[in-house]
Amino acid sequence: MGSLQQTIVIRSMTRSHLAGVLDVINADVLPGQASCSASSLLRATTSGGAFVAIGDRILGAAGVGRSRDGAAGVVRWLHGREEPGVVAGLLDHALTRLDGCDVVEAFTGGGVGAVAAGLPEVRSTTREALVTRGFAAMPAGRYLYRSMPLAPASLPGQPRIQVTARGGHRKLTVPGPVGGLLAEATVSVLAPEHGVLRWIEVDSGHRGAGLGTQLLNACLRYLHRLGVRHVTGLLDDHNLTADDGHGRIGAHMIFTRAGFVTGAQLATYTKVG
Ligand SMILES: CC(C)(COP(=O)(O)OP(=O)(O)OC[C@H]1O[C@@H](n2cnc3c(N)ncnc32)[C@H](O)[C@@H]1OP(=O)(O)O)[C@@H](O)C(=O)NCCC(=O)NCCS
Repeated sequence: MGSLQQTIVIRSMTRSHLAGVLDVINADVLPGQASCSASSLLRATTSGGAFVAIGDRILGAAGVGRSRDGAAGVVRWLHGREEPGVVAGLLDHALTRLDGCDVVEAFTGGGVGAVAAGLPEVRSTTREALVTRGFAAMPAGRYLYRSMPLAPASLPGQPRIQVTARGGHRKLTVPGPVGGLLAEATVSVLAPEHGVLRWIEVDSGHRGAGLGTQLLNACLRYLHRLGVRHVTGLLDDHNLTADDGHGRIGAHMIFTRAGFVTGAQLATYTKVG
């Protein structure tokens, strides 16, 4: 019998649900996204707020949270294999738990083990369920990804690059000839073999001269040395047809030239009242 005909019960998540919840989360992993590990799921759910939809097995799961004063709520993550009945059941339960909040956001954090905030556009059942319940969508950028079984070849004329570690992130910087920075990038290793290029920026007076391309190449080579074989790049780029004045076209250009392909468009959601 398909899950649509099943009786679904919602229960608070416990450790006994871990394997089934990982299954439903990882069923939604898209190319360029890392799968969720048991440890990151446990980290994300220790503060409570996670619940599961159970039929003949675990059909879905979600996590919610509230601000300290209780006025703002968030549906942090929700996965139900895009089965309309399961997704609707989870979302309605989430809204019941967040009853009384002035504003409820959805998918505004990184999710469990997710690379970036936002619901991927391909999850249309979840999107429909949110919109039907009064949520408004806000574009949240997109990500790009590439595999690199071999380290990318170094480019001629590579500038001097310094690496500093800060928390889980590594910063790669190109110092200026008389102090200051010409360019900087932030990378991190998210999961075994999976790295993320979170941000890359060239000083506005030095763009268009190849520095971004050089720094991106250095980031990829650096991540490869750390064991990374799949890289995701984050781009807060809502419009690829016109420069928004901040070099977003330049960013898309250097990523695609370095072998990245465009992943899903992401959106966050808000419901007021
Ligand atoms: C993205 C960024 C790092 C690129 O740095 P850069 O030093 O200019 O990069 P490069 O010079 O190596 O390459 C940029 C390419 O984009 C092209 N480009 C830049 N703006 C463009 C535009 N408006 N239209 C078309 N092409 C454009 C450049 O001509 C160049 O291509 P070319 O080498 O074929 O001439 C820089 O634009 C930047 O700091 N942007 C603001 C921060 C940002 O948005 N970062 C991305 C988020 S992760």
